[in-house]
Amino acid sequence: MLIVNIGELVGIVPAGVLRKQGPEMSETGILRNAWLRVADGRIEGFGTGPATPDAGEETVDAGGGMVMPAFCDSHTHIVYAGSREGEFLDKIEGLSYEQIAARGGGILNSSDLLHDTPEDELYRQSMERVTEMMEAGTGAIEIKSGYGLNPADELKMLRVIRRIRETVPAVVRSTFLGAHAVGRGYTREEYVSAVIGMMPDAAGLCDFVDVFCDEGFFTPEDTDRILRAAEPFGLRPKIHANELAVSGGVEVGVRHGALSVDHLERTTPAQVEALHGTGTMPTMLPGSSFFLGIPFGEAKAFVSAGLGLALASDYNPGSSPSGNMRFVMALGCIRMRLTPVQAFNAVTLNSAYAMGISDIAGSVTPGKLANLIVTRPGWNLTRLAYNYSTPFASRIILRGKTLMQLI
Ligand code: NIG
Ligand code: FE
Repeated sequence: MLIVNIGELVGIVPAGVLRKQGPEMSETGILRNAWLRVADGRIEGFGTGPATPDAGEETVDAGGGMVMPAFCDSHTHIVYAGSREGEFLDKIEGLSYEQIAARGGGILNSSDLLHDTPEDELYRQSMERVTEMMEAGTGAIEIKSGYGLNPADELKMLRVIRRIRETVPAVVRSTFLGAHAVGRGYTREEYVSAVIGMMPDAAGLCDFVDVFCDEGFFTPEDTDRILRAAEPFGLRPKIHANELAVSGGVEVGVRHGALSVDHLERTTPAQVEALHGTGTMPTMLPGSSFFLGIPFGEAKAFVSAGLGLALASDYNPGSSPSGNMRFVMALGCIRMRLTPVQAFNAVTLNSAYAMGISDIAGSVTPGKLANLIVTRPGWNLTRLAYNYSTPFASRIILRGKTLMQLI
């Protein structure tokens, strides 16, 4: 495929650059009046000016639109059953996330629904969300378990994630989040041991391990036990930390070489310091701040301190019922005061890094997967965040094939 007449080709990154940190967050490679060639599902090359198609090559005329890498979403919980609309009404009435959880709602409510849902039906419901995300321009999705909360149902979730991975053109990575809440019928101690007991079977079905290390859920000591059990299986941690309180999750994650620490709505300078010089990507989830009405992470402080930053959707039924990464990018600008380029890097290359795939996705780089969004004419990165709900895409391309043509 040859894409011609590109107004702006954005997100050009040299091969070997796997993430952006500090001042690099404000940079992205842009070519104007460009073309881009795709071969075997990957980006083969690009340049400026006119280009001539090879014999038999499909030509796509971008009509002066922007071409950008598809979004990468490094933190989701999109394998779930049913919905939690009832809790949405409770929330409108004034109950907090913690109050809803304490009444047996929240994650345990989703766990009961998942238990009663056959595996095929769970796959079908989850695929609807994956399709919705791909059609909104997401080309890579990390998906967590964590609504099973017992060995059989956690493995059921992980099998559904594997089946999604085998079916869809988006890149899918899988995370074992057995420690998302204490399963029904267990004490916390017993449940942590049960999660450790699930590790050998779970490890065969996942890439990463996660723990909800937060007030009312799991402690740093629980987290440490679980991460030590995951280590022999080569599972790098991605930790839920500091959503509800300053939890100690950042420090325990960094100690275990976490790929990312996520949420960070309540982080202090000590944790910013703990992240310095590490391979851990701080990841913020502004969709859940927006939906829960809790603080937004101090994104600018992280970037000013020289750290990288990823943004992800946290798509889940309780705290962020949207997987729209363009809205996440807009919230990064509007509510966290990131510049459009910083927010763009956070939802593409850095989010790819936070799911361990920035060598194959997240930027316009020869050899990477051709996961691309072609926009309508007249779009640029600033307008993407500014006119945050105006239809912008003309074509979504995943692995070099057109998934959707919109105009
Ligand atoms: O990232 N914080 C923990 N897990 C999810 C919420 C899951 C749910 O409420 O179902 C989150 O916000
Ligand atoms: Fe989450």
